[in-house]
Amino acid sequence: FHVDMDAQETDKGPYPYYMLKEIDEQPNVMRKLASLYTEESGKPNVDAELINAMKQADRLYIVGAGTSYHAGLVGKKLFEKLAHVPTEVHIASEFAYENPLLSKKPFFIFLSQSGETADSREVLVNVNAHNYESLTITNVENSTLFREATYTMLLHAGPEISVASTKAYTAQIGVEAILAKALGEAKEQTIAEEFDIRQQLGLVATGMQAIIDEKDTIDDLAKKYFVPANRAFYIGRGIDQTVSLESALKLKEISYVQAEGFASGELKHGTIALIEEGTPVIGIITQKRTANLTRSNLQETESRGAATFTIVRKGLAEKDDTLVIPDVNELITPLLSVVPAQLIAYFTSLNKGLDVDRPRNLAKSVTVE
Ligand code: G6P
Repeated sequence: FHVDMDAQETDKGPYPYYMLKEIDEQPNVMRKLASLYTEESGKPNVDAELINAMKQADRLYIVGAGTSYHAGLVGKKLFEKLAHVPTEVHIASEFAYENPLLSKKPFFIFLSQSGETADSREVLVNVNAHNYESLTITNVENSTLFREATYTMLLHAGPEISVASTKAYTAQIGVEAILAKALGEAKEQTIAEEFDIRQQLGLVATGMQAIIDEKDTIDDLAKKYFVPANRAFYIGRGIDQTVSLESALKLKEISYVQAEGFASGELKHGTIALIEEGTPVIGIITQKRTANLTRSNLQETESRGAATFTIVRKGLAEKDDTLVIPDVNELITPLLSVVPAQLIAYFTSLNKGLDVDRPRNLAKSVTVE
């Protein structure tokens, strides 16, 4: 198939690797989504027929693989909180053969950077066979999942070349937030009406830039603690737990450090046995309600020898926090909290002398089941 790519967009320019370029592009992608999918008044600018179709549904089913699946986990929180619609998230390869029990009026959302993932396509073929309606959110116009779904929304992130996905993840969350806001408004949910997504995406763009500008600090952290590590953990609760999964995936796929993302309260039920002297454990703390709980879970690992770090939203920061990220609405903190984790993975891989953009055993797009 043919993909239109601007020469400039596919040129690495001054960057040693595409991954760093793509991390750097995220603030602009956020601004682009705000300008394309919202009006100056702050109202979402989304296909009315799509919103109407979603409004008829009694349940949303989000399907994706890898990083796109992780973006779906954030989407669940957004659709449930802003639009008050029950939402399930499924790993494409599991959904395809397990035939999960469906609600009476399901609506399917496919998340895929490439639009070509075979496992996701297998699900869409089934969905179409049953005449269910679907939306594909993808970065590639005219890709297979784009062509075969009822509705489509583009990520407008520009070509993503590095195998480890970065800007597609944040763009997927940005689009989901706009969509959840639009659906919530259509369903007259006060929380959606009060959620100014346009303004929030502006804050996110500025916040991302502030984090990227501090990348030397993250480089030092990676050199000192992550390059020598055999394993590492990210922990968090709620939406932070979903980011811990994506953060761990970034680290393992390009730096080969065995990493796990964990619900911070669950660690002590077994996995804490893996903590040794110096094992890095990073707590992601952006939610007021659970901040202190994650702090005490982090403390539990520290007392067993872990080297602990925090990625904390400014409003919740304390004196010894490692990386403080700017404040945004608690519903969309993944857009910021993932950026330090992307940079930790990048610098760990770089400082180990690995090929950041082309890690061993992996492909950018997996077109076999
Ligand atoms: C591959 C890539 C991942 C990606 C996943 C899903 O495993 O290496 O980075 O998240 O496929 O790809 P998709 O294009 O469907 O988002």
